[in-house]
Formats: sequence, structure tokens, C-alpha cells
Amino acid sequence: MNLNTAKKYWAVIPAAGVGKRMGSQIPKQYLPLAGKTVIEQTLSVFLQHPDIHGIVVAVTQGDPYWQEIYEHQYIKESDSNEKPIIVAIGGVERCHSVLNSLEALSSHASDDDWVLVHDAARPCLKAADIDCLIEQLSETKSGGILGLPMADTVKRCDKEQKILATVERSELWRALTPQMFPLKLLKDALSDAIKAGALVTDEASAIELSGLKPQIVEGHPGNIKITHPNDLQLAELFFSFN
Ligand code: CTP
Ligand code: MG
Repeated sequence: MNLNTAKKYWAVIPAAGVGKRMGSQIPKQYLPLAGKTVIEQTLSVFLQHPDIHGIVVAVTQGDPYWQEIYEHQYIKESDSNEKPIIVAIGGVERCHSVLNSLEALSSHASDDDWVLVHDAARPCLKAADIDCLIEQLSETKSGGILGLPMADTVKRCDKEQKILATVERSELWRALTPQMFPLKLLKDALSDAIKAGALVTDEASAIELSGLKPQIVEGHPGNIKITHPNDLQLAELFFSFN
């Protein structure tokens, strides 16, 4: 294989949210977790993974917390492992942050390089899950995502939380990240979705809207998204065992 034409794998980390549900003074991605910040734990999974060529991080313009990390800690770390860290500006919704990141990446990457979009707020991702995605999706045309089969019985309710029905769960999966797609395919799909007014909450939704069927790869259940205050304690527990 000619290594110069081999497709590269890039991590794209949307980190421009305000963390409303967390209710903390500072955005949740900058809260302390196991001796670093949440976002540093997330980034280090990709910095340490041998198949990841470089990283794009989307942050709010002028974000002082990111500046502190990037200037005072990250440059040093990235110098030693020589992975590029590209900074993009976040948008109003997660889908805008991801699209801005892909646009920033376009001048550094090939159209058919792979991007692995991963929430900054999921610091418990295991390297083995990245391995599974790369192994199972690299030969596909339209990529896929990490997911978890629904374990609980699922109910549909009305606004008063009265149960209307029990939903058949055998076909239901929870969508996690990373979500892995070819760069241009995803950029075009997100751009089309946004133009059509669909503010998709994950990348797969944009690909689905374009008529393709992304694959689901079963992930590790510890890959939680820090959303509410208790999730941070769960994540601490994860790090104490790993
Ligand atoms: N995100 C982003 N740009 C936005 C909104 C979210 O880059 N405009 C990022 C978040 O920083 C997070 C990921 O997308 O890493 C997943 O979003 P979520 O968990 O919903 O984070 P927040 O939007 O910050 O939280 P909340 O919805 O509670 O406000
Ligand atoms: Mg949000």
C-alpha cells in the first residue's frame, strides 16, 4: 500500500456548548476530572491513539478556558507527539460546530479521509472502541457510529408522564460517539441538513437524511456523556478503575 495515499483518521471534538443541564459556573468540558479537565481527558484518548493523525477542536470564540489549556499545556504535549491540533470556532448548535470544524479541516485533509466526531463531554471513551470503529467501518462507503442496544423496557408517555405504550425495543439503539464518516460525505450531508432546516443532533442523522444507512458498532457502556452533575461522579469512578 502507498502510505502517501492512505486515508487518514482525524478526530473532531465539538466543545462549544454551554452545559445548560449541568448548571455549573463554567462549561462542563472544563470541569476537573481525575487530575485534568474533562476535555483534556477526552483529547488524551485521541492524542495517544496511534491511528489518529490529528484533531480539530471547536470552541466558542475567545473561550478563556480553552486558551489556558491550549497555550499552557497542550502545545507542549502536542509538540512531543507531533499531532496537529486545529482550532475551529463553534456555532449556535452542535451541528454548526461540527460543520465549522470540517470546513477548517478541509485545507489539511483529503476529501475521503475519515473523521471521528466525538463529544468533548465523553471523556470515558476507551481506545478499544476507536479500534473497533476503524476495524469495522474502514472498508464501508458511508461509515457508522458507536451505539448501545437498549437494555431497559421502553415506554412512550404523554406530557403528564402517563404511559401510552410499551415500545418494542429489539430494534432500538442508543447513539453514542465517535461517529465515523468520510470527511466530504459528512460535510455535504451536514451542510444540506442545515440548509433544509434540520438541526440534527448527531452526524448519523445528517447521513441518514442524505439517503444512506450508516452502520452501528456496539460500544462500551462506560462511554457516558457528562450531562447532569451526577455524571461527573460516575466518570470519576470510571477513571478510578481504569
Ligand atoms: N457542543 C458544541 N456546540 C454547540 C453545542 C454543543 O460544540 N453549540 C458540544 C458540547 O460542548 C459537547 C457536545 O457538543 O461536547 C455534546 O453536547 P451536549 O452534551 O448537549 O453539551 P451542551 O450543549 O454543552 O449541554 P446542554 O445541552 O446541557 O446545554
Ligand atoms: Mg446541548
